[in-house]
Amino acid sequence: MTNYTLKVTEIRRETDDTITLCFKQPGLKKIKYIAGQYLTLIFRINGRRYIRPYSFSSCPGVDSFLEVTIKRVENGLVSNHINDMVKVGDSIEAMPPMGDFIFEPNDDLTDVYFWGVGSGITPLISIIKHILNSTEHINVHLNYGNKNQETTIFKDQIEALKTNYAERLTIRHFHTKLVLDEGNPYLIQGRIDQAKALSILDAKLDPNCCSHYICGPTGLKESVKSAIQTKFGRLINVYSEDFELVKDPKDFIDIHTQQIALTFEGKLHKLEIAKGKTILEAALDADIELPYSCQTGNCSTCKGKVMNGAIKMIGLTKERNDLEEDEYLLCCSHPLTENVQIEIQN
Ligand SMILES: Cc1cc2nc3c(=O)[nH]c(=O)nc-3n(C[C@H](O)[C@H](O)[C@H](O)COP(=O)(O)OP(=O)(O)OC[C@H]3O[C@@H](n4cnc5c(N)ncnc54)[C@H](O)[C@@H]3O)c2cc1C
Ligand code: FES
Repeated sequence: MTNYTLKVTEIRRETDDTITLCFKQPGLKKIKYIAGQYLTLIFRINGRRYIRPYSFSSCPGVDSFLEVTIKRVENGLVSNHINDMVKVGDSIEAMPPMGDFIFEPNDDLTDVYFWGVGSGITPLISIIKHILNSTEHINVHLNYGNKNQETTIFKDQIEALKTNYAERLTIRHFHTKLVLDEGNPYLIQGRIDQAKALSILDAKLDPNCCSHYICGPTGLKESVKSAIQTKFGRLINVYSEDFELVKDPKDFIDIHTQQIALTFEGKLHKLEIAKGKTILEAALDADIELPYSCQTGNCSTCKGKVMNGAIKMIGLTKERNDLEEDEYLLCCSHPLTENVQIEIQN
């Protein structure tokens, strides 16, 4: 995989804790991407390499820059580094675009619902711009949760879309810290929960003619899925993106601290994998620069072959039929037995 070096051309402040980095397309080899995919940025901070994926907030064919939007995470290394340190003119290394959270067109579609919270808006706005720009008949419903107006990312961009596509775009803002505006039925107090999602879904719609894109915390995903199931009797055309791996402590009952052997670039490493840590995290802590990107079990960049012993993957939310029986994603892998041996084959 050949990486790119991208120049920061503009930095746009979205909210107090969120900025958008705008990159010019590289001169020689343009980056091709699909709305909803992500760009993986690579940084060296205090001598250590950090890799983080950020969904494109720009849309090909609509925006001329490549744009990613980064919200600070409390105690987060890279998100704060980007917000504090990156300047216009900086060059940043990036992997080629990846991701399968993209618009899935079908001839019957009349309505597409988007459900997002906080920075989860980034892939959604990219797909929304794509649909509004490239189709003429699809209605778009954006349901977007935030604390209040001030923390709402892309507030002005969403308003501009509303003006340009008034007949096809419906926007509902959900604010947990609402300043009441009784004249506005599209500003709703509280989180997007199951009851609110149910009240938004139109029972008259044929479930085959609508689709749903969800990006936000687990609670949002569960609420929306449960509302769709209740309203339409089945989950159909539902797509989601996770920014973080969610782990259930119950899955760790049979996991113990283990020593493993890991072969990477022809070199053998002995590693201790503390209970709770993934094999990828332990390797990175030991300064072994394994390949990775999403850290959510989505992209396969961290794939390893298990030559001996048993491994358990924890936190995967999507079925992975593309892995061989002895292949594991190290970003969600934990050793189950002694004598685990892994080989990374490039
Ligand atoms: C496919 C994909 C697309 C993404 N797109 C975006 C995007 O468009 N914009 C964006 O701002 N972020 C996005 N993220 C999240 C981003 O990649 C980083 O995980 C995030 O910036 C935190 O990194 P960090 O180094 O600051 O935090 P770390 O130092 O890695 O983590 C610090 C602490 O924060 C927790 N944490 C990690 N990520 C999150 C999170 N997203 N929310 C809350 N807590 C978290 C960790 O569990 C840890 O406890 C995306 C993630 C994925 C997998
Ligand atoms: S880093 Fe993407 S699947 Fe592990």
